[in-house]
Amino acid sequence: MKNTSGTTEQKRRAGESAADLVADGMVVGLGTGSTAAHAIEALGQAVDSGLDIAGIPTSFQSRQLALDHGIPLTTLDAVETVDLAIDGADQVAGFTLVKGGGAAHAREKIVDAAADRFVVVADPSKVVEGLDYPVPVEVLPDARTTVADAVVDHGGDPTLRQAERKDGPVVTDNGNVVLDCDFGTVADPAELATALSALPGVVEHGLFVDMADEVHVGLDDGVERRTR
Ligand code: A5P
Repeated sequence: MKNTSGTTEQKRRAGESAADLVADGMVVGLGTGSTAAHAIEALGQAVDSGLDIAGIPTSFQSRQLALDHGIPLTTLDAVETVDLAIDGADQVAGFTLVKGGGAAHAREKIVDAAADRFVVVADPSKVVEGLDYPVPVEVLPDARTTVADAVVDHGGDPTLRQAERKDGPVVTDNGNVVLDCDFGTVADPAELATALSALPGVVEHGLFVDMADEVHVGLDDGVERRTR
């Protein structure tokens, strides 16, 4: 389930602005989605021109895109630090995000949280005062009913995400399913994040509470960089 109202140019400016932060020798987390894809493409061009980096993909999609663009890859197990992660978001309020519109939020959260510096790339349609985007919750298939019931008890409205060119549900890169949980405007993201994480069968949810270090918002005529 995607928020698709930003323009390609806005996304490109945001992605390229974040890619500009990457320097020789860095290990870089490679986010998922249409905005992070612009950063990966820009990094591929820089690698082609001699930049020496190693990327850690956050999904099947970002791994393939990095391979297509000649970016050398590594894994979290093989490095001591991740210098920088660049990733998109479905909504951004301050430095807290909703992610998972592409069902990649579990691996994204692992890589983004491991990075010394986490830079979010977004178009203006993603930036809000209060988060009201349905929160994607990746669950083990056996837990979809019990987690859905618990989400209702917490005031949410869960919908099992359906695939578009496959019968049945979306199956994540990790073999699980996703409940998109509409809580209206989330008054206390930290409290909801803790509650969702505590549910048996939840693999990961898409609330990234106070995780971003910077947000680069691509505009029609430039980039707005929000830093802490
Ligand atoms: C992937 O699951 C998501 O977290 C994406 O990072 C998010 O949906 C942003 O994608 P777009 O840049 O395509 O909007």
